[in-house]
Amino acid sequence: MNPSTSPRTERAPSHRLTPWPKAVRDVVVNGLSASVKALPPWLFYDATGAELFEQICDLPEYYPTRTELGILTQHAPALARHAGPHAALIEYGSGAGIKVRLLLDELETPQVYVPVDVSQEQLMAVADERAAQYPGLRVMPVCADYTKPLELPQLPASARRIAFFPGSTIGNFHPTEAAAFLHRVRHTVGARGGMILGVDRRKDPRVLHAAYNDAAGVTAAFNRNLLVRLNRELGATFDLDTFRHVAFFNDEASRIEMHLESTIAQQVRVADVVIEFDAGETIHTECSYKYDEARLTELVEESGFRIEALYTDVNDWFWVAWLQPT
Ligand code: AVJ
Repeated sequence: MNPSTSPRTERAPSHRLTPWPKAVRDVVVNGLSASVKALPPWLFYDATGAELFEQICDLPEYYPTRTELGILTQHAPALARHAGPHAALIEYGSGAGIKVRLLLDELETPQVYVPVDVSQEQLMAVADERAAQYPGLRVMPVCADYTKPLELPQLPASARRIAFFPGSTIGNFHPTEAAAFLHRVRHTVGARGGMILGVDRRKDPRVLHAAYNDAAGVTAAFNRNLLVRLNRELGATFDLDTFRHVAFFNDEASRIEMHLESTIAQQVRVADVVIEFDAGETIHTECSYKYDEARLTELVEESGFRIEALYTDVNDWFWVAWLQPT
């Protein structure tokens, strides 16, 4: 695959623009061979998965996207003041690339935009669009799984590095991994950097349940598309009719869990391995942690940042936080 790029989109030659098929195979086989079967949520985002996630964002029950957009719209000027001039904006998980425009429109002379995403098609399209819309902005896309340590292209020394991690994707990490990730970001942005972080707040479990069990079944399709992907990319033999979408709030862990439940006892071939399922056994496909202020403060401070400002919505459902290195 070699998507065309506009002249303004820079490709760092040292950076791959496709995920590694072998890495997908190893991650999947290891995850399904474990005693508790689990797969990492970044696997959701093939082209179809990215499209289904866009549909989820428009669902009436799925509040996070529109709530965060509202907060960003209202507080973009304040965030831009925190960031100051000449920002190098590094976005972890650029997705469809809508949110960053709210910041780019307010930032004073932003220098560089580095979108990082695992979905290659979307990444390159977003990079080209932003490069065309913001003349003078250098756009340097990186196709990568940012849950792992990540090498970024060389950034101008004069630019202040600002990490942007919206969407409450931080919730996909277990708390220890979240701290490790934020710690790496802290290292990446340096002592004079900053971070804009989107966080989904703990709230009425009924609101949470509805958001991950929508009436139209889009979240179910998003979850099950993972199996479609494995059938296509790894020659797996998942029978979609025998796996159902399960999502619930785990109160003790303060997280939504998504699973794919095998409704029958069966064997499935994945790559060169046979995987056994009991009836009712699940593949844990996603955690989505919901934070209260104490937990968020603890996480942030563990990572070498402090919370400088917290912006929320009228329902107190979501936060956009401005973090600075301690
Ligand atoms: C993209 C991780 C923020 O956890 O809400 C949406 C993904 N999963 N519906 C989330 C998701 C099911 C989403 N994040």
